[in-house]
Amino acid sequence: MKVKGTHYRSIWYDFDTDEVKIIDQRWLPHDFRIVTLESLQDFEVAIRDMWVRGAPLIGATAAYGMAMEMGRDASDAALNKAWDILHETRPTAINLRWALDRCRGVLAPLSPGERAGAAMALAHEIADEDVEINRNIGLNGLEIIREIAAKKPAGEPVRLLTHCNAGWPATVDWGTATSPMYHAYEAGIPIHVWVDETRPRNQGAMTAWELGSHGIDHTYVTDNAGGHLMQHGLVDMVIVGTDRTTAHGDVCNKIGTYLKALAARDNGVPFYVGLPSPTIDWTVKDGVAEIPIEERPEREITHIWGRDGAGEISEVQVSPDGSPGGNPAFDVTPARLVTGLITERGVAEASAQGLAAMFPEKVK
Ligand code: MRU
Repeated sequence: MKVKGTHYRSIWYDFDTDEVKIIDQRWLPHDFRIVTLESLQDFEVAIRDMWVRGAPLIGATAAYGMAMEMGRDASDAALNKAWDILHETRPTAINLRWALDRCRGVLAPLSPGERAGAAMALAHEIADEDVEINRNIGLNGLEIIREIAAKKPAGEPVRLLTHCNAGWPATVDWGTATSPMYHAYEAGIPIHVWVDETRPRNQGAMTAWELGSHGIDHTYVTDNAGGHLMQHGLVDMVIVGTDRTTAHGDVCNKIGTYLKALAARDNGVPFYVGLPSPTIDWTVKDGVAEIPIEERPEREITHIWGRDGAGEISEVQVSPDGSPGGNPAFDVTPARLVTGLITERGVAEASAQGLAAMFPEKVK
């Protein structure tokens, strides 16, 4: 999507300099910094310390990391070591393992001399595919927004609520939860988006930034506001992203998503998930029991980053000295609370049958 009139992807290969570039998301929305990733360690740090983030982008970054490493050392040992190092970075988003397995599956049968070129071609393919998947999620989500709009008085906006950032910076482009918003905007359907701030890392600020950059009407709200907004009829539809969805339709996403789904169910508000197929973990059925939930550093809870009155980006402490912080980064919304899974192929029921019908080739 565009930043100040220039189109960017969240990760790209610069063919002039032969470098992989990313937007360093630690500084968004206050500063727009582009950095180059070179060594395997650069890619490891960028994923682990969330310079890049969001399940699809984590997968694409791992693929580029693998490709850069194959350019340095394409031995079997280096291939397996890169898989291990990158896989260790973040445990919840399944796109990481999906991308690494896909890379190793293609590269392992090749001779070392063939691997560097094939790995880079595959990284480009994974990135391009992600863009196309998310564009289609947007078109399928657009139909849901269109149906809601048709039942409202002419000109009244469809009010959406989203949690975290499942926007274009979290993918290679378009976003998952935001793609239907962009398509609705382009189709001239009036929308308004309630954007949860998403403590502790406030990814919602990034969502507000990208929607604002595109001219989409939105309001940045506290994580706790959603239930109140729904009780007062101010939300027509919740739409979120996912880091891993089970074969039975349980949705793991940013911490706090489950509470939004509960409030949505209590208030009769439809709860949708933008789901790219690489985010489905076909090996897992029960999300609560089986999905590993990332525990992040307590400093993300006890401290907060922002821009001060002098324009400086800095960190301040919010909790008292000595109080420990607990930081589970994701939770699981059971399939029964999900109205529909908006995939690139269409809207699937959140159930084993629904997903199997949408992706029959994945089910034995
Ligand atoms: O910890 P993050 O910022 O990587 O978490 C991101 C999310 O939870 C997103 O909703 C999810 O990855 C989907 S991104 C299209």
